[in-house]
Amino acid sequence: MKITWHGHANVEIGCRTGFKVLVDPMFAPHITGAKAADARPDLVLVTHGHDDHVGDTVAIGAPVVANFEISNYLGRKGLKATGMNIGGRYVAAPGIVIAMTFAAHSSGIQDDQTGLFDGQGGNPCGYVIDDGEHRVYHAGDTGLFGDMKHVIRELYRPDIALLPIGGHYTMGEQEAAIATEWLGVDHVIPIHYNTAPLIVAAPLSFKRMVEERSKAQVHIPKADETLVF
Ligand code: NI
Ligand code: MN
Repeated sequence: MKITWHGHANVEIGCRTGFKVLVDPMFAPHITGAKAADARPDLVLVTHGHDDHVGDTVAIGAPVVANFEISNYLGRKGLKATGMNIGGRYVAAPGIVIAMTFAAHSSGIQDDQTGLFDGQGGNPCGYVIDDGEHRVYHAGDTGLFGDMKHVIRELYRPDIALLPIGGHYTMGEQEAAIATEWLGVDHVIPIHYNTAPLIVAAPLSFKRMVEERSKAQVHIPKADETLVF
């Protein structure tokens, strides 16, 4: 499995079969050099309705999976959108199974024209993407919650986790270090930090906190760097 971090929560997952999944594709010049126009995913996953996660989904134009409400919204924008909900699994392609997981956050969709939230974004979520070799958990935006320890760890058995560490809107470094222990993953990659003034975090202090609590290996990719697992 190849994992490429495009900054913030935007992560590309190259599955064992070559199937390419892009989660929360917000591309912006100030984040990394990557451009939405160069993204060629087979499938986009959206974790919730906020702008920094729906991002460039419409411009990219690939098939998308999201919660029921966001999939309806994106369907009206002309995308091939598949709605699902927390607890469900979706076979995206032969050998690629995607589970939608709980997230403790909000999910209002911001209207393109008015900038106001229409309140129709359903519930936020995370995803576990299983390519038959690795199972990567993208937590989306979330606070720490106990089912990381039980439902997500016991049912989906992720070995790689992508966790927000920026705080303020999501878990910070300490909560994400506890999440890493609870999930029982072998590898963790911090995301959703240092892209706005309120979400400043130190990935190296997150790394130290993880090392105090678990044997998980912390990977801190540079912008657009690909990690191979
Ligand atoms: Ni959010
Ligand atoms: Mn966010």
